[in-house]
Amino acid sequence: MERDGPIAVVLLNRPKQLNALSTELMDELASALKELDADEEIRAIVIGGSERAFAAGADIDELSRATPIDLLYQRRMENWEVIRNLWTPLIAAVSGYCLGGGCELALACDIVIASETAQLGQPETNLGIIPGAGGTQRWARVAGKAVAMDVILSGRFLSAREALAAGLVSRVVAKEAWLDEAKRVARAIAAKGPVGIRLAKDAVDRAYESPLALGLEYERRALYLAFASEDAKEGLNAFLEKRPAQFRGR
Ligand code: CAA
Repeated sequence: MERDGPIAVVLLNRPKQLNALSTELMDELASALKELDADEEIRAIVIGGSERAFAAGADIDELSRATPIDLLYQRRMENWEVIRNLWTPLIAAVSGYCLGGGCELALACDIVIASETAQLGQPETNLGIIPGAGGTQRWARVAGKAVAMDVILSGRFLSAREALAAGLVSRVVAKEAWLDEAKRVARAIAAKGPVGIRLAKDAVDRAYESPLALGLEYERRALYLAFASEDAKEGLNAFLEKRPAQFRGR
C-alpha cells in the first residue's frame, strides 16, 4: 500500500500464486481499503497486481481444503461487502490474468483500466464450482446474457479488446502503461470536488440497483445536495474567475 498525495495504490503481492485471493490476502485488502476510505486526504484508490497477473482467482489450494462451514466462518463475503460499500473511487489496474475472484474484484471497482495483455474470465466451472463473489450477476448486468453465459459456461477468457467491447473494462492501454494510466485517472479524479465525486459514484451505482424513475429521482436529490456544498460554489466561481478550483471536500 502506497500513498502518493491524494491517491493511494494497493498492489496484490502473492507472485508465486499469481495473486490468488487467499483469505489472508482478502482480509488484508479489505482492512487496507477501509483505512484508506476513512482517510479524507485520499480521494482515489488504485488496486493492481503485477504485469503477469492482476489475480488468478480465489486460492484453489485453500479452497480445495475448505468445507462449506469453513467458508461460512471465514466470513469472506463481509470483505466483498466492504469493497462494495467504499465511498472512495476504486480503479482496477489490470494486466495479465484477471480470473475468477480476481475478475470479480476488478468488476467490483468503479473503473477498470486494462493492459492489452489482460485476459478476463470466470473459469470456476472448470473446477466444478461457480463464481461466488458477484461474477454471474455482474457479467450478466454489464455484458449481457450472451457474453456472460459464454464466458461462465465455457470458461473461455476474453482479451482486453473483447472485454472493452463488452463494456467490462473502461480503457485498454499499451502493455507498459497499465499502472501509470490507472494512477493518471486516479489523479484526475482526485483533482475534482470530493463531494461531487462521491455523489456521482453513488448515483451511477444506483442505476444497477433501482428502476429508472427511482434512479432519476435519486440523481436529482444528489445534485441538490452537491449544490449545497462549498465545493460547488468554489467550482462554479473558479470557472467564472478563470482560475483553478481549490476543493476542500466540504
Ligand atoms: N490459486 C492458487 N494457486 C494458483 C492459482 C489459484 N487461483 N492460479 C495459479 N496458481 C499457481 C499455480 O498453481 C502455479 O503454482 P506452482 O508454480 O506452485 O505450480 C503458479 O500459480 C503459476 O501458475 P501456472 O503454472 O498454472 O501458470 P500458467 O501461466 O501455466 O497458467 C493460469 C496461468 C491460466 C492463470 C492458470 O494458473 C490457471 O488456470 N489458474 C486457475 C484460474 C482459476 O481457475 N481461477 C478461479 C479460481 S476459483 C474462484 O475464483 C472462486 C470464486 O470466485 C468463488
